Amino acid sequence: MKRKLNVEVIKDLNKDVKVCGWVNSRRDHGKIIFIDLRDRTGLVQVVFGPNLKPESYKFSQKLRPEWVIEVLGKVQKRPKGMENPKIITGKIEIQATELKILSEAKTLPITISTDGYEINEEKRLKYRYLDLRRQRMKRNLEIRHKVIQFIRDFLIKQNFIEIETPILTKSTPEGSRDFIVPSRLYPEKFYALPQSPQQYKQMLMVAGFEKYFQIARCLRDEDLRGDRQAEHTQLDIEMAFVSQEEIIELTEKLYTNLVRNFFPKKKITKIPFIRMTHKRAMEKYKSDKPDLRKNKKDPNELAFAFITDFPMFKWHEKDKKWGAEHHPFVMPQTQDIKKIKKNPKNILAFQDDFVLNGQEIGGGSIRNTNLDVLTAIFEVLGHKKAEIKKNFKNYFEAFSYGVPPHGGIAPGIDRFLSVVLQEPNIREVIAFPKTSDNKDLMMDIPSEVTNEQLKELHIKVVKKSKQKNNI
Ligand code: AMO
Repeated sequence: MKRKLNVEVIKDLNKDVKVCGWVNSRRDHGKIIFIDLRDRTGLVQVVFGPNLKPESYKFSQKLRPEWVIEVLGKVQKRPKGMENPKIITGKIEIQATELKILSEAKTLPITISTDGYEINEEKRLKYRYLDLRRQRMKRNLEIRHKVIQFIRDFLIKQNFIEIETPILTKSTPEGSRDFIVPSRLYPEKFYALPQSPQQYKQMLMVAGFEKYFQIARCLRDEDLRGDRQAEHTQLDIEMAFVSQEEIIELTEKLYTNLVRNFFPKKKITKIPFIRMTHKRAMEKYKSDKPDLRKNKKDPNELAFAFITDFPMFKWHEKDKKWGAEHHPFVMPQTQDIKKIKKNPKNILAFQDDFVLNGQEIGGGSIRNTNLDVLTAIFEVLGHKKAEIKKNFKNYFEAFSYGVPPHGGIAPGIDRFLSVVLQEPNIREVIAFPKTSDNKDLMMDIPSEVTNEQLKELHIKVVKKSKQKNNI
């Protein structure tokens, strides 16, 4: 007989079914034993009583929490007054005829019956496969899955195409540190993991795909915080022949629909979303991601906002040089283009950030497709003209074969979910996050590799202790 999910057996009244899962709890009532059997879809009550075959009976006596079992039995209405409205299968129970033990379980090192906030997080992450058994984590990952599915449907209906871009790519000047991967075939050369698909999505515009999206994994070697992971997921969007206004409207429509569908109790502070220039946000709130909720005590208020007109450049006092406020491929605003080299401080860009309750949940811009303007920007950033042509050769070449004007946005999926689910950090909405010091305690990484592997990669590791002595 084919196994059924717990949620499916509600429809099988008076039928024989096979269910499988984990023993969530057990109550002994003399000759009758009640088990709450847990699977991904929730709990169902199983009764081991008079219908149970004798050889199964002795197994039922041994059962302990978290053992994995298979049960054959008949779905019955629960007796009057015994219904449990708290669970979806609360009106029925399964009268077991046969029981098979598929796996025994040791006592778990962490409790999974609570929401888990009280448990040391390192322990939760070490035993993440157990931590994910808890109801709260199941809910978070199910909502994550549904939100992503909704986003896909929404965009596909509007003629977007989802395209995967490479994970082995090139080190680019996007602001953060790259994770690099040594090349075995080309000694002394490296790939970089993508900080975002920024350049590839622009290449897809040159290629004529016009409306692209991807649920993209982005990797940045940053110092981690509650809202930052080494790997995060972006909804990466790019469109050709589009204005900044149209990108904002699309984002607004998508997020309004997401909230209405999945979080109907939440109230959006203002629709269309609040707009504020970067200058005003800095003057009034001293922040480029102000929390614009009317009532900060209200957990159900969502203050979405677009902070617009970001400066193009940022002065780095430590290095005494200009950097890009976002990335160098952003288009400066038309009225400022002539002043780029003379007055970098006051150049505004067609760049905006998408903000929710004081967190930056996305960033987008119109891209610079004018190669003279792009060269001027790189010059302000300290690159020599000859170097620019060499370092960004692919970009310049691609743009010389007919490039449509284009722009896009990339909302971070993890941050949005952590805010709407009222979680204290993004680790709570990611299946296997790293700790705040960038380790995966479950897999025990980062870890050493063998000398053979290093040799193949032409890499020699200098031990930290030796390094110190040499200095
Ligand atoms: P940006 O660098 O602003 O833009 O990233 C977009 C959004 O991704 C999320 N994010 C992160 N989330 C968790 N951990 C991190 N380490 C992390 N870094 C970023 C944030 C952020 O707003 N290519 C451009 C987008 C574009 O212009 O289309 C980009 O990556 O929510």
